[in-house]
Amino acid sequence: MGQRLAILGAGNVGRSVAELAGEYEHEVVALADSTSAAVDSEGIDVTDVVERKRSGDDLGETAPEAVFETDYDVLVEATPTTLGDADPGFTHAKRALQTDRHVVLANKGPVAERYDELRELEAGSAGAIRFEATVGGAIPVLSTIEDSTPQAVTAVRGVLNGTANFILTRMAAEGLDYEHVLAEAQDLGVAEADPTFDVDGTDAALKFVILANVLADGGFSLDDATVEGIQNVPGSALELAAEDGRTIRLIGEATRDGVRVSPRLVPENGALAVTGTRNIVQIETRNAGSLHSSGRGAGGPETATAVLSDVGRLPPL
Ligand code: HSE
Repeated sequence: MGQRLAILGAGNVGRSVAELAGEYEHEVVALADSTSAAVDSEGIDVTDVVERKRSGDDLGETAPEAVFETDYDVLVEATPTTLGDADPGFTHAKRALQTDRHVVLANKGPVAERYDELRELEAGSAGAIRFEATVGGAIPVLSTIEDSTPQAVTAVRGVLNGTANFILTRMAAEGLDYEHVLAEAQDLGVAEADPTFDVDGTDAALKFVILANVLADGGFSLDDATVEGIQNVPGSALELAAEDGRTIRLIGEATRDGVRVSPRLVPENGALAVTGTRNIVQIETRNAGSLHSSGRGAGGPETATAVLSDVGRLPPL
């Protein structure tokens, strides 16, 4: 059943959702960047709007006001992740839920930092929230947990930051130091211009906090996570690990009791030693052992795929 999508955020993810929505028979009625929006309740011309955005043009109306005045079914919240009060993403989600719309988030901030409030708003709304795209890009992590029922999942662990994984992989394979590989990752566009949250573990921690919230039905924010990044992993530690058939990966773990992200030794040929920008998730279940999924954890079309599968799981309003 096709839904009318209003997309807040016109970066890689927002634009990719707009471009792929037609394949899933959804209509895009609004696409907004931080100040301007293209809106049309009959459906915007996505190709034209994306081209205008790429050329740096103003999209027309005032965002987000014009977006909230549009006739839409699902708000796609794809603005950049912010910490603390998680705004403006949280306020966008709140406005949509208070007017009985569904919300699909690609923005990790509100789900990691204000999960309990989001669930409360959802309880008072005809709309629902979904947020598969916040964890592991295209890998169906949250829907797998949903299908296994959260109560039967005891822990989720794995690698959920592609940039840190790329850096550790290159350091180990080429014997290069951290600064050299970080510069290379930035040149290749693998790492953001400001990769702080990737290398200091914050981005991975946000994803594991979201997983802990799903397992425990709330109660966690970034402040509850124990986090250590990869900035201080010396090349010599990777060399020593290799002598022993092991390597180092930035491993996170979420349980009902908490969240931990830190560099850890893992077997070189084991499942957790994914290479390059790949992510891996291991879901530990009470009665069915460990379930593994691995794949691309970031990227516009990959994350948009997760957004659109969430949209497909929402009932008509
Ligand atoms: N920058 C993240 C990564 C993707 O490198 O995996 C967005 O969460």
